[in-house]
Amino acid sequence: MILKSKDVLGLEDMSAEEILGVLEIASRFRAVFDRPVRNVPIMRGRTVVNFFHEPSTRTRISFELAEKRLSADIVNFSAATSSFKKGETLRDTAENLAAMKIDMLVIRHSSPGSARYLARVLDCSVINAGDGAHEHPTQGLLDIMTMRQRLGDLRGKKVTIIGDIAHSRVARSNIWGLTKLGAEVTLCGPPTMVPGSLEKLGVTVECDLRKAVADADVLNVLRIQLERGAGSTFPGNREYHRMYGITEDVVRSLKPEAFIMHPGPMNRDVEIAGEVADGPRQVILDQVANGVAVRMALIYLLSGGDPGALGGGD
Ligand code: NCD
Repeated sequence: MILKSKDVLGLEDMSAEEILGVLEIASRFRAVFDRPVRNVPIMRGRTVVNFFHEPSTRTRISFELAEKRLSADIVNFSAATSSFKKGETLRDTAENLAAMKIDMLVIRHSSPGSARYLARVLDCSVINAGDGAHEHPTQGLLDIMTMRQRLGDLRGKKVTIIGDIAHSRVARSNIWGLTKLGAEVTLCGPPTMVPGSLEKLGVTVECDLRKAVADADVLNVLRIQLERGAGSTFPGNREYHRMYGITEDVVRSLKPEAFIMHPGPMNRDVEIAGEVADGPRQVILDQVANGVAVRMALIYLLSGGDPGALGGGD
């Protein structure tokens, strides 16, 4: 069995073996994408509920596509159109869903710990699609998959994560996953956005951008999370871009083979210059494609899928 838990709540909980096992299955699903028929009947008759209590484009569509490609029955609902508006608690909503016999719940919520709470009270599998500033495990896995496609084994590879680390669940999931796989992680951003306390997770904090990227193999660039209160931690977009934006000039200072990632949504000309976002070093759309494969792999494994039944990957 590749996954030990019935749920996927964070990369803090997953071992290096589990992470690599999921990515191996994801690469087999990724190989199916180039076929004319991309759907496989693995989840026929199973019901997955996607509950997004926060805005999302990529993650929501990616989960939905992953579920459709596995032939699952899908129900989508969002806070705006549900009884949350009438004051119902998260637990009551979730228990009502469970009473309708669902097999899996995918949840995005603004409260850290919400996915773990539901995983405890529900018998079905729960996948965390982002809980506040805590974790975003599927994003962490797709980022790691994208890095491994280019760098192979990540042991000793240098990954620099730049931006609003304090408010970023993507950063936290990257840190847990990458350090478990032996990568050397550097965090960079204005001191108000990079808590020094994260050093105890085995990463380096370097607030000087040029120093932080000089020998990096990959840059993972993050958005400023204004919706989580980041507005008070920096003087303004123009100032941020000047100090920490990934511009053509910064790119010229990188190692020739270094590449640039971004989880989206991007704020062009704030954390990343438009030319860099469209330039030859970025792998942003590979990340998006890998996201569907990673989510297919997790759904498959959580629903008891047999890894041996899938055949060879790429
Ligand atoms: C991220 C998120 O929602 O945490 N986006 C995503 O899931 N692709 C990052 C962000 O919002 O900046």
